[in-house]
Amino acid sequence: MSDALETGRATAGGPPGPTPDGGPVLEIEDLVVEHRKERSREVFRAVDGVSLTIGVGETVGVVGESGSGKTTLAMAATGLGVTGQGTIRLLGHDLRALSRRELRGLRPEVQVVFQDPHGSLDPRQSVRSGLSELRTLQPQRTAWVDDRVLLDQVRLAPEILERYPHQLSGGQAQRVCIARALIMRPRLIVADEPTSGLDVSVQADVLDLLRESQRRSGASMLFISHDLAVVRSVCQRVAVMLRGRVVESGPSAQVFENPQHEYTQKLLSAMPGARWRARI
Ligand SMILES: Nc1ncnc2c1ncn2[C@@H]1O[C@H](COP(=O)(O)OP(=O)(O)OP(=O)(O)O)[C@@H](O)[C@H]1O
Ligand SMILES: [Mg+2]
Repeated sequence: MSDALETGRATAGGPPGPTPDGGPVLEIEDLVVEHRKERSREVFRAVDGVSLTIGVGETVGVVGESGSGKTTLAMAATGLGVTGQGTIRLLGHDLRALSRRELRGLRPEVQVVFQDPHGSLDPRQSVRSGLSELRTLQPQRTAWVDDRVLLDQVRLAPEILERYPHQLSGGQAQRVCIARALIMRPRLIVADEPTSGLDVSVQADVLDLLRESQRRSGASMLFISHDLAVVRSVCQRVAVMLRGRVVESGPSAQVFENPQHEYTQKLLSAMPGARWRARI
């Protein structure tokens, strides 16, 4: 296999076509991820036999209480360091079968938007120099858009380019993080609680921006949240996690209207009904 793995993108600027093998963007089968407990030989199984598929342009949500393994699952899905047993196929490529070099080549295809935008940005870099660094790393991939147009796409004024992270509000910083993800033209965006760290007043805007960006770019999205109303409004399909396992999954409407598993029912009944119905 050469360095340049096939990813199925038709043109640098255009929407992504089918994956090279015509299959899903991400396919996880029977994934088990264990964390070693601190100062101990014991391990803790954070993800316990999870299978999950995300098709081209599809948004799949993962919900579950704190500690249920959502972030561990997401990080494994990106192939970014977290390893485990089971199969992870990204754009048809089995991540375990790839050389380090091939993995590096595939990495820009997955971009992560984290909960804490300020923690994701280098405090010593202005927005412009941060983008410029990405352009130097991936000149061809990033050439489809200039900085101003990119910022406009995330609804930020061009003046923001000269700012440093500490000069940005939480909402602005998260928009910059989304721009940094979009510039790479990823095939998969992993958004891990992307609005939970933000002021309530800007959460809906950032969510709306993510939804619009995902649609415009044609990327697929793995969307993690403990907020069921948000997941319902963003995701076509949803997986409910409990103690490392997916206990229920299916189309969002089905899971939310007619939850089968006791835990999903409990999660839904804990939600103030008016709040989640109002947001649909
Ligand atoms: N690096 C690590 N070392 C040891 N244990 C870890 C590590 N990362 C996560 N864990 C443990 O694995 C479990 C799952 O953690 P994870 O962060 O995936 O949960 P989560 O569903 O994302 O939770 P939250 O909603 O709070 O973000 C937790 O019990 C956590 O304490
Ligand atoms: Mg988490």
